[in-house]
Amino acid sequence: MTSSTRPQAEPRSAYKAFRHISTRWADNDVYGHVNNVVYYSWFDTAVNGLLIERGASDIHSGGVIGLVIETQCNYFAPLAFPDAVVAGIRVAHIGSSSVRYEVALFPGAEEDALRGQRPFHPCVCGPRHAPPHALAPAITLCTGDLDVTHVLNAVDQAIASRQSMRQFLPTPVPKETIAHLLALASRAPSGTNTQPWRAYVLQGASRDALVAKVCQAHDALRANPALIAGYREEYDYYPEKWVSPYIDRRRENGWGLYGLLGIGKGDKDKMHAQHQRNFRFFDAPVGLMFTLDRVMGRGSLVDYGMFLQSIMVGARGHGLHTCPQAAWNGFAKIILPHIGAGENEMLVCGMALGYADEAELVNTFRTPRVSAKDFTTWLD
Ligand SMILES: Cc1cc2nc3c(=O)[nH]c(=O)nc-3n(C[C@H](O)[C@H](O)[C@H](O)COP(=O)(O)O)c2cc1C
Repeated sequence: MTSSTRPQAEPRSAYKAFRHISTRWADNDVYGHVNNVVYYSWFDTAVNGLLIERGASDIHSGGVIGLVIETQCNYFAPLAFPDAVVAGIRVAHIGSSSVRYEVALFPGAEEDALRGQRPFHPCVCGPRHAPPHALAPAITLCTGDLDVTHVLNAVDQAIASRQSMRQFLPTPVPKETIAHLLALASRAPSGTNTQPWRAYVLQGASRDALVAKVCQAHDALRANPALIAGYREEYDYYPEKWVSPYIDRRRENGWGLYGLLGIGKGDKDKMHAQHQRNFRFFDAPVGLMFTLDRVMGRGSLVDYGMFLQSIMVGARGHGLHTCPQAAWNGFAKIILPHIGAGENEMLVCGMALGYADEAELVNTFRTPRVSAKDFTTWLD
């Protein structure tokens, strides 16, 4: 590895859980430092110890085993017996059948590491393969606001592992799976059980034809911005006037994503191209369009949110990912006739559905959340 690609050491605040590691006399090699191979045993000890401690792994009677398929270690400073060592653990990536844990080793007692007062000595541990239902502690670790002592159940896992994916694989999604997800989502609640949702599933030629039409319109709009007058969103998804803190979060989100993709403020071409990826459903083989009868009230949009989230969370249970998309809304006049929607229907949003290309840079984008304590008022 060249020095330019060498990972940087990170402070303990970058890690979510900590375990104490004892060094032994035999850990030192002839140079008086902990031998390289010992670190790998510490990685296993740290991660498995945590999984067992959190009740997520039962090595004797549990039916789930985790297999390490790749490991890597970067050394920043030596450790030696009789140092005390603390392992900081975090989850770098959660796939549909694997978790990549990263472990950093900090010299010193646990209290020192927790206070961040000692120099650090991180070693990075590579992917660790585990069946999906063994992922619970991984998710608790990477979603900082969740209680890390709490092992997530399957529903928690599905909710916590949903994220908007923006690059999909061409792998087809079985029709029965899509039908199942829609049926599952129909269990969503709605005021007086009105069930105001209506879904259109686009695959194959119908999907490709809509992509071509909207991409063309999007390009034409860029060439002649005056055309915007002809495109209208049918309801105000966003406020007319942005105020803090929403505008700040929106900016953080936009620039975070563009920054990751190397798109600067002046890169109009790249920005247009990235925005247009929406109108290709981010290459997902399945595009969904959702409409609402215009006669319905604003409350139906509340119901709709629950229906959409049920699809997205349900998708996780089948190894699928989604991206909800309001980007389509301005193109309703093209979309509604294309899908054969009635005059009475308005476009609520679109959604990409498929198997995410999890290795793709854009899909490593993780969005932060305001801590629950900052949006909750407890009235006892
Ligand atoms: C109704 C709705 C519409 C959205 N529209 C778009 C969209 O058009 N394009 C896009 O890339 N993301 C879209 N998003 C995704 C949001 O940007 C994303 O949910 C938010 O940044 C939080 O990130 P996460 O979904 O990865 O947790 C939309 C989300 C929702 C709920």
